[in-house]
Amino acid sequence: MAILRIESLVFGVENLAMCIKFLNDWGLNKIESNDEGAEFKTPDNQSIILRQASDPSLPLTEERNSTLREILWGVDSQISLDSIATELSKDREVHSDGSGTLHTMDDSQNYLGFKISDPKFTDVSVSEVNLYEDINRVNKRGWPVDKARPLRIGHIVYSLEKEGNWEAAQFYVDRLKFRVTDRSETGGTFLRCEGSNFHHNLFLFHRQGSRRYYNHVAFEVNSFDEVMIGGNYMLKQGAVSVSGPGRHSLGSNIFWYFNNPCGGDIEYFSDMDRMDDNWETRYWDESPPYAR
Ligand SMILES: [Fe+2]
Repeated sequence: MAILRIESLVFGVENLAMCIKFLNDWGLNKIESNDEGAEFKTPDNQSIILRQASDPSLPLTEERNSTLREILWGVDSQISLDSIATELSKDREVHSDGSGTLHTMDDSQNYLGFKISDPKFTDVSVSEVNLYEDINRVNKRGWPVDKARPLRIGHIVYSLEKEGNWEAAQFYVDRLKFRVTDRSETGGTFLRCEGSNFHHNLFLFHRQGSRRYYNHVAFEVNSFDEVMIGGNYMLKQGAVSVSGPGRHSLGSNIFWYFNNPCGGDIEYFSDMDRMDDNWETRYWDESPPYAR
C-alpha cells in the first residue's frame, strides 16, 4: 500500500467566480469551468476542483462558508487501492464510485478518498545561486521570473481539538502507513505519506482551545524569489496576507500565506526539508520559534 501524494482537492465554494479568478491569479491552470464548478491542475497533474457549496453531491460539512470538502490521496496501484479498501472497511463505510475512487472518513470526521495516482513530472529550472566561492552562475544575470508558477500541491493542514489529536494522527500512521516527521505537544503532528519525502504532506495542527476545521493548502514554487514574486502579485490583486513571508522551523520551508476564498488559507512555499527512512521522529514539548 503506497500513498504517493495528494491527488485531488474538492472545495465547496460560495462565490465561484471569485474563486476562479483567485486560483488563476495564484498561477494555476484552469482546465474547465461552467456554472456548476471548475477544475484547475498543477503541472504535476494534481487537480483542484471547485463546486458550488450547495451542490448536493459534495460531502457534507459543518462549516457555513466555503471550505475543503474532500481530499483524494493518490496511490501507486490497484493492489494498493484494494488493500486500503480492505483495511478501512474493518471499522467504517468505504464506498467506490463509478471511476473506482474510494471515499470514506478519517477519525476526525474529515472526508478523504483514494484513487490511482497519475503523476506528470515537470521540467523545473534549477536556481543557480552564487554562495561565496561556490559559483554556479557566471556571465548570466540572476533576474527572477515575473510570476509564480505553482508546481504541485505539497501539503494540507487540518486544525483539530487538542484533546484526542494524537489518536487522530495515529489513524494515518496505523491504518495508512504515514510516518511522523515531527510532533510538538503545543503544535501538532507533521506526517508524510509513504511515497513522499516532503517533511509533511499532512499536518494535524492543534493549539489549546483550537477547534476542528480545514486550515490550509500549500503549493510548492521553485524558489524564494517565486514565493516573494507570487506573494507581491497576490497583494496587488487584493488578496489578504495572513502570515509571512517567513521561514518555518519544523519543515524549514519558506512560506507566505493568504486568505483563500475557496476556504481556509493558501500558502506558497519553497525549500522544504526532505526526509527518507533514516529520519527518526523528533518529539518537541514546544514548537521551536520561526522567522517572519
Ligand atoms: Fe503549510
